[in-house]
Amino acid sequence: MGFITKTLTNLHIITIILLLHSSRVFPQSTTSRLDQDQVLRDGEILVSPQQIFELGFFSPRNSSSRYVGIWYYGMQNRTVVWVANRDNPIPDNSGVFGIRNRSLIVSDGNSQVYWSSDSSAARNDLNLSNLTMMLVDSGNLILSTVENAGREEDAIWRSCDHPTDTFLPNLRVYLNITEGISQQFVSWRTANDPAKGNYSMGVDPRGSPQVVVWDDRSNRRLWRSGHWNNQIFIGVPRMRSLLLFGFRLVNVDDGLVYFTFENPNSGPLMRFLIQWNGAVQQMIYNQTISRWTPMVSLPSNGCEEYNKCGNFGICRPSTAPSQLCSCMRGFDPNPRFQDQRNSGNWSGGCVRRTGLECSANGSTSDGFVERMGVKLPDFADRIAGDRGECENGCLQNCSCMGYAFVEGIGCLIWGDELIDVEEFEQGGETLFIRVADSDLVSGSNGGVSKTTVIAVSVTGAVVIGVLALLLWKYRNKVKACQIPCGGKKNGPLVSEVFNGQDISVEASEQLEREMKECDGPPLPVFSSHALEVATDGYANKNKLGQGGFGPVHKGILPGGQEIAVKRLAKSSGQGLEEFKNEMILIAKLQHRNLVRLLGYCIEGEERMLVYEYMPNKSLDSFLFDSVKKVELDWKTRFKIIEGIARGLLYLHRDSRLRIIHRDLKVSNILLDEEMNPKISDFGMARIFGGNQNEANTNRVVGTYGYMSPEYAMEGLFSVKSDVYSFGVLLLEIISGHRNNSFRSEDSTNLIRHAWKLWKEGKPEELIDPLILDSCNRTEALQCIHVAMLCVQSSAVQRPTMSSVVFMLEGENTSLPQPNELDLTSLSSAEMDLIMEGREINVSSNDVTITEVSGRP
Ligand SMILES: *[C@@H]1O[C@H](CO)[C@@H](O)[C@H](O)[C@H]1NC(C)=O
Ligand SMILES: *[C@@H]1O[C@H](CO)[C@@H](O)[C@H](O)[C@H]1NC(C)=O
Ligand SMILES: *[C@@H]1O[C@H](CO)[C@@H](O)[C@H](O)[C@H]1NC(C)=O
Ligand SMILES: *[C@@H]1O[C@H](CO)[C@@H](O)[C@H](O)[C@H]1NC(C)=O
Ligand SMILES: *[C@@H]1O[C@H](CO)[C@@H](O)[C@H](O)[C@H]1NC(C)=O
Ligand SMILES: *[C@@H]1O[C@H](CO)[C@@H](O)[C@H](O)[C@H]1NC(C)=O
Ligand SMILES: *[C@@H]1O[C@H](CO)[C@@H](O)[C@H](O)[C@H]1NC(C)=O
Ligand SMILES: *[C@@H]1O[C@H](CO)[C@@H](O)[C@H](O)[C@H]1NC(C)=O
Ligand SMILES: *[C@@H]1O[C@H](CO)[C@@H](O)[C@H](O)[C@H]1NC(C)=O
Ligand SMILES: *[C@@H]1O[C@H](CO)[C@@H](O)[C@H](O)[C@H]1NC(C)=O
Ligand SMILES: *[C@@H]1O[C@H](CO)[C@@H](O)[C@H](O)[C@H]1NC(C)=O
Ligand SMILES: *[C@@H]1O[C@H](CO)[C@@H](O)[C@H](O)[C@H]1NC(C)=O
Repeated sequence: MGFITKTLTNLHIITIILLLHSSRVFPQSTTSRLDQDQVLRDGEILVSPQQIFELGFFSPRNSSSRYVGIWYYGMQNRTVVWVANRDNPIPDNSGVFGIRNRSLIVSDGNSQVYWSSDSSAARNDLNLSNLTMMLVDSGNLILSTVENAGREEDAIWRSCDHPTDTFLPNLRVYLNITEGISQQFVSWRTANDPAKGNYSMGVDPRGSPQVVVWDDRSNRRLWRSGHWNNQIFIGVPRMRSLLLFGFRLVNVDDGLVYFTFENPNSGPLMRFLIQWNGAVQQMIYNQTISRWTPMVSLPSNGCEEYNKCGNFGICRPSTAPSQLCSCMRGFDPNPRFQDQRNSGNWSGGCVRRTGLECSANGSTSDGFVERMGVKLPDFADRIAGDRGECENGCLQNCSCMGYAFVEGIGCLIWGDELIDVEEFEQGGETLFIRVADSDLVSGSNGGVSKTTVIAVSVTGAVVIGVLALLLWKYRNKVKACQIPCGGKKNGPLVSEVFNGQDISVEASEQLEREMKECDGPPLPVFSSHALEVATDGYANKNKLGQGGFGPVHKGILPGGQEIAVKRLAKSSGQGLEEFKNEMILIAKLQHRNLVRLLGYCIEGEERMLVYEYMPNKSLDSFLFDSVKKVELDWKTRFKIIEGIARGLLYLHRDSRLRIIHRDLKVSNILLDEEMNPKISDFGMARIFGGNQNEANTNRVVGTYGYMSPEYAMEGLFSVKSDVYSFGVLLLEIISGHRNNSFRSEDSTNLIRHAWKLWKEGKPEELIDPLILDSCNRTEALQCIHVAMLCVQSSAVQRPTMSSVVFMLEGENTSLPQPNELDLTSLSSAEMDLIMEGREINVSSNDVTITEVSGRP
């Protein structure tokens, strides 16, 4: 019969044949498949096997036009997710849907074709006979051969490749990187008219893929998500809350990738769509009230409108519309658009105050001003290199206007005007804006010293200026090479030094408190000259790596002692806060599993910390290096695990104050010559008072992949957030895989993979094949068990570090069963957090020094 249909052009004849073979014709109660000798007539439906989606003819509200579409099965108000003949409805009920000449065809009673899938030319290798279409449970309609019915990979044509306005879980949005083209979702014309509307949504691969909404009339961008960093889109302020919804980008082969997202296990129905009015919405189905609830709707404030404040402008959410916009440092409002600006239209943007210097030999006196917590500009280019190379790469390229180094993406530079920058109330990335030397020195307020200019961006940074000044003063006073940490003993009080000067009461009180606490042994001061000699002028060959706030160089003191010098990057405010934090904190800590601070240097603009030198660098240089990995046998790995656990226990319990590290990860574990681990990088650590157990921060810092859910989503941190990071570390050490870049067939990250193996009762499959034969299974399995307890989503259920140490060392201890990552249990907190207007703990000032506020 296949051969007959091949030559048919008239659906009437098919109908006749169908009538002759009426045993194969509708109505069958429910079927999800339609073979090529069958047709679907108006009034008949296909239902996906699990009764999730339904396909048939429908009319939108208030209309008699007929469309072929896919909608949710059994929902009171029909929710259409895909439409075939969206631009060409059938005026009456005579419509027929079927397969003809390898294409899906919508036609009317007179065989006039209203829509065709145009797939007849595809896959010429396939035999023409016996095609079938099947509606599958993901909401996808698949045309394939009979043998491949319902198999997405072997489809001749798939509806998901031709989306309407809705992005469903597990469907794929393909992106051809080479061509820069992705599938587009196009809005309906109105709420009740599925015809192509004015707005479309797609993916722009430039720099790193990002979602963009266009106004198709003018081809202007209306909104964008910011770049994909392998976990989230960094330009969506609340996106880290969506982390758990499992967005991911999958590489198919060279130049072809797809985006998809997962619904949390057994969670409610969910979809993304581009509304007829251009808004991007995430909708959740509330079963109780049988209604779709918008969970996220973008743009959600004035600042999310594309390039609201014009080129080189920065938009900062504000209740007063006249205060939304300002210029980046070194830029002034464009005088040509004064009139528009007066009427509240900032799209004219800002212009550079002083031209950049750019000479043929690449030397320049330009520098960068730092802007933290922003949505990075549009039209980025990605270049190779680390943080330092990123800055140089930008300086040496005359057209480079700024750069940013983003975890998960790498170095981004901008070769044109900086467009669509927004300041976030929390989160966000750090942008380095290139300006002329003179604009580095004098800020927009004019005549402020360089130190002050830098400090303005983060009020907290003022405090380090104060601290530095104090130390400086004090050192000059006693003219000695040793001073007590913090300079308190004989030094003046902060309030005395700054009597009547411009420093907030809270800031000075905070500083005084910190100094009182800081009465450890005196810390040697190094002169910047001595350190320059020791490191051979910070020679590149001595560079060990990049710490949280600056490069680290190896040095040798005259006596032969090896040291590591961490140097705060000059001419940028980056890391001042972290520098202060690390200095105050680490000076007090003494433990064999914590890296030791040998001294420091604060001189002029130089700020350096001097540590003991670790010949074996950091754990990641072994663990993720295919060659050096071999040196990490099980005994060594176990020793490292125990060492980290003890170091962390000391921070949490043994030292007088409870300290939360907040950025525990493989690259922050250093190894001495005997491969003893030492925890480093206390730039983000926080001190807790004696009975304080949990705190909340407005600015979530740390590394995705290591952050516990409550910290990533709600900014809540406690010792248990470190325990979570420790669990992730443990899994990485045992498996030899990075959590962030781990991929397996059905798991998006190492933790999910571990849970899956755990549930299936085969945790031993997690063990790195390299050590599988040599390791002590008992110990390894015990470690996996402990890791699973540490990565439980409920902070309360995670063990404390003292139980962890006990569990790691104890033999035959019977451990509790871990509870699986329960995504659905998080959804109410999740909902609260991201429901419009119910944002918690958002403060519009950026005083990071007060970020820790105790909770009862
Ligand atoms: C339906 O159409 C009528 C007349 O055109 C109009 O008054 C009414 O508001 C429409 N209803 C909806 C829900 O669009
Ligand atoms: C269906 O949609 C209509 C119009 O939007 C609304 O008035 C009605 O409440 C909805 N019914 C349900 C059960 O949600
Ligand atoms: C089937 O499609 C092919 C390729 O587009 C076309 O050349 C041919 O004329 C079509 N046949 C019929 C019967 O429509
Ligand atoms: C299609 O398959 C049939 C049966 O297997 C075979 O007889 C026919 O030659 C095939 N046609 C083509 C074009 O490959
Ligand atoms: C097509 O399907 C018919 C009936 O199911 C079967 O007899 C025939 O062998 C099939 N032809 C091919 C090429 O698979
Ligand atoms: C990307 O698109 C171009 C042009 O359409 C095509 O030649 C190329 O094969 C596509 N690449 C992939 C990986 O599909
Ligand atoms: C779409 O564009 C048309 C033509 O410019 C306009 O009349 C209509 O109002 C627009 N619709 C929306 C929803 O913006
Ligand atoms: C569903 O809606 C009801 C009534 O508004 C509300 O009480 C309930 O919390 C909602 N459920 C979810 C999961 O949001
Ligand atoms: C804002 O001003 C620009 C010129 O700077 C102009 O092109 C644009 O149309 C204006 N927009 C509005 C909404 O007035
Ligand atoms: C580069 O050129 C500038 C003048 O354009 C000059 O002052 C500088 O010394 C040159 N630098 C090098 C490394 O040649
Ligand atoms: C400078 O940067 C621009 C923008 O990213 C890029 O197009 C250009 O190729 C770069 N030039 C050099 C010499 O690297
Ligand atoms: C494995 O480790 C356990 C617990 O540390 C120990 O009791 C046992 O002797 C070890 N087995 C081997 C073969 O080393």
